[in-house]
Amino acid sequence: MGDEQTMPYPYEFYNISDEEKSLNEKLHAYPYEFLRVGPKGYLVSKIFKTDAANIYNLPLRSSDIFVTSYQRSGTTWTQELVWLLASDLDYEKALSTPLIERYSFLEMFMNVPDTGIDGFMKALSQNSENFDKESMLKMIKWLGSPITGDLATRPSPRFIKSHLPMSLLPRNLLDTAKMVYIARDPRDVAVSYYHHTRLFMHTGFKGTFKEFWHLFHGNLMVLTPYFEHVKEAWEKRHDPNMLFLFYEDLSKDLPAAVQRVADFLGKKLDDKQKATLCDHLSIENFKKNKAVNFDELRVLGMFAKDEEFIRKGKAGGWRDYFDEEMTQEADKWIADNLKDTDLRFPTVK
Ligand code: A3P
Repeated sequence: MGDEQTMPYPYEFYNISDEEKSLNEKLHAYPYEFLRVGPKGYLVSKIFKTDAANIYNLPLRSSDIFVTSYQRSGTTWTQELVWLLASDLDYEKALSTPLIERYSFLEMFMNVPDTGIDGFMKALSQNSENFDKESMLKMIKWLGSPITGDLATRPSPRFIKSHLPMSLLPRNLLDTAKMVYIARDPRDVAVSYYHHTRLFMHTGFKGTFKEFWHLFHGNLMVLTPYFEHVKEAWEKRHDPNMLFLFYEDLSKDLPAAVQRVADFLGKKLDDKQKATLCDHLSIENFKKNKAVNFDELRVLGMFAKDEEFIRKGKAGGWRDYFDEEMTQEADKWIADNLKDTDLRFPTVK
């Protein structure tokens, strides 16, 4: 796979404006080349185009389980929950096998800069102090390769992670496979994503949070527009193969969320099993758990010292980051985008 010409694809790719380009270049240590795709104009890195049609036409199995989201919405948390329930609570494997090996990350390759491995290594060497070049090269080659071909050889059940919106995922996905989608208050997503762009040394976001917020709500971060992403999944929430979750609901009542996921996957849990699972999924245990905290990337030197992948794990932390002007902007942005839908975030009144 990997040849964009061979498969039918219903969407057009188009360039971003010069103004958008220069904003992005100004703020990122290493700017990607971006395109927009489809009628909603989702922002993707240019390299996405090489495997977009293969993703769209991916042959699915009825045992496939997708965990999807707009990034920084609680995907990792949901992935671990789903994997453990679907794998009959196999903690031994969960603790010994990194999540990035237990799940196939559908569009991971588009996060490796378009100039390929050389560009990535150059950007990293400018920002990172010490890293083992050889191990890094191996990891980058793995992360930067499209996986649609490899997926065909994976045993069932396949666990697939993606931040793509419904329309860019395999067509008619819900006719065959199951999907759990997690959404989060966009203000908390913005804060979490801001830290995420500082965490990865190769992207090295240089601006303030306020500047980041303008890129995010101005649809200049990957896979924005944010609300279109969430709304596409929300519209499918009643499909029997779809479970739509909110980060805030997991945060408020994790045992209830665990039960919903168990019911969705057709799994039974007694109270003791539920309590053990909730303990395993607590933010404190998650931070220490090397199978989910992406420690393998930190060891390689890919992460900034003062940032973490599993960070605060709270709902409502955005209040510490938004000034009055940003708060008003966010209120208006959210109200405008919720006007034509019954989508409501638990924390947005
Ligand atoms: P914060 O940066 O606000 O802390 P994703 O997995 O989609 O990238 O989402 C990351 C967000 O989920 C981060 O939010 C992270 O801390 C939070 N998270 C991860 N594991 C969690 C857990 N066990 N409990 C609560 N929040 C968690």
